[in-house]
Amino acid sequence: MDVINLRSDTQTLPTAEMLAAIQTADLGDDTYGEDPTVRRLEAMAAAMLGKEAAMLCISGNMANLACLMAHGGPGDEAVLDPDSHIFYYEVGGLASVAGMMPMPVQSRDGKLYPDDVRAAVRGRNLHYPIPRVLCLENTHNRSGGRVTPLDLHNALCDTAHDLGLTVHLDGARIFNAAIAAGVPASAFAEKADSLMFCLSKGLSCPLGSIALGSKEFIAKADRARKRLGGGMRQAGIIAACGIVALETMIERLADDHANARVLAEGINTVPGLSVDMDTVETNMVYVDHSATGLSTTEVLARMKAAGVLASGRPPRHFRLVTHRHYGADDVREAVERIRKALAQ
Ligand SMILES: Cc1ncc(COP(=O)(O)O)c(C=O)c1O
Repeated sequence: MDVINLRSDTQTLPTAEMLAAIQTADLGDDTYGEDPTVRRLEAMAAAMLGKEAAMLCISGNMANLACLMAHGGPGDEAVLDPDSHIFYYEVGGLASVAGMMPMPVQSRDGKLYPDDVRAAVRGRNLHYPIPRVLCLENTHNRSGGRVTPLDLHNALCDTAHDLGLTVHLDGARIFNAAIAAGVPASAFAEKADSLMFCLSKGLSCPLGSIALGSKEFIAKADRARKRLGGGMRQAGIIAACGIVALETMIERLADDHANARVLAEGINTVPGLSVDMDTVETNMVYVDHSATGLSTTEVLARMKAAGVLASGRPPRHFRLVTHRHYGADDVREAVERIRKALAQ
């Protein structure tokens, strides 16, 4: 078998059905609101998530940023986890583009808690920025794809609203969260004022993310998207894949979760490696390699030479993400390759 690429679920390639859908998609100029395939995808997504309106964006990063720009502006405060994707991996766009002030609240096991949010949100005072929006992330990437359960999610939304803040949910992998929590994704959307989810991760589209909210909110986010250079023309070629993804790719995410458990159990039999099984809730496996005595760079290099690609989370961890290109036998094969690579 070729290389087993478990760096991320973003490595997934479009399905044959997606490529065929591109060829037959009805197209128009989306900036004129005239691409029927985009309109159809946005209507489908809004109905699925129980929101009034939806907007297709190039990326999750752009969808998050356009939403933040619709929630607030320069000098306003965004309350968020310093381990969130928006804080950690989006090039500081929150501050440098939206002009907003981050108020960090540290997550624990990938979850924020209402008391910590309450403690971080200061009352109104001439000296303080105005707290505008609470950002949540579900599943939570840097904790290894952990899930905030629905009751905690709802309590966080209620807390934010009590404090006069709106809520934005970075739901890049909201369908993974929904499957793991055993609830429809719309349950997580209900109390969030806005959310975004990605088509380009486990759902296998080549690109595309969807921002959702009220009609009024999405009209504001649409202006922000345009300002970011994200106005598109015949974007139906992206939307055509998105429609196939929503119709055919969601339920199978459960297979990725099951394969992540198989992978993690296998990794726990490799000398020097360990995975805390409680952390494996969805499709990510964070592996502690510190007992090998090797650096993360060395571990990744040996694995690569043995035909397994992973992402480094130095100094102690690497990350493996299961996705539709690999089944249970493939992840078992990955474990054996890793075992050999580290035995040398
Ligand atoms: C939680 C989370 N939010 C947002 C994004 C950004 O998505 P994109 O890579 O499409 O910009 C990612 C990407 O990995 C993510 O994991």
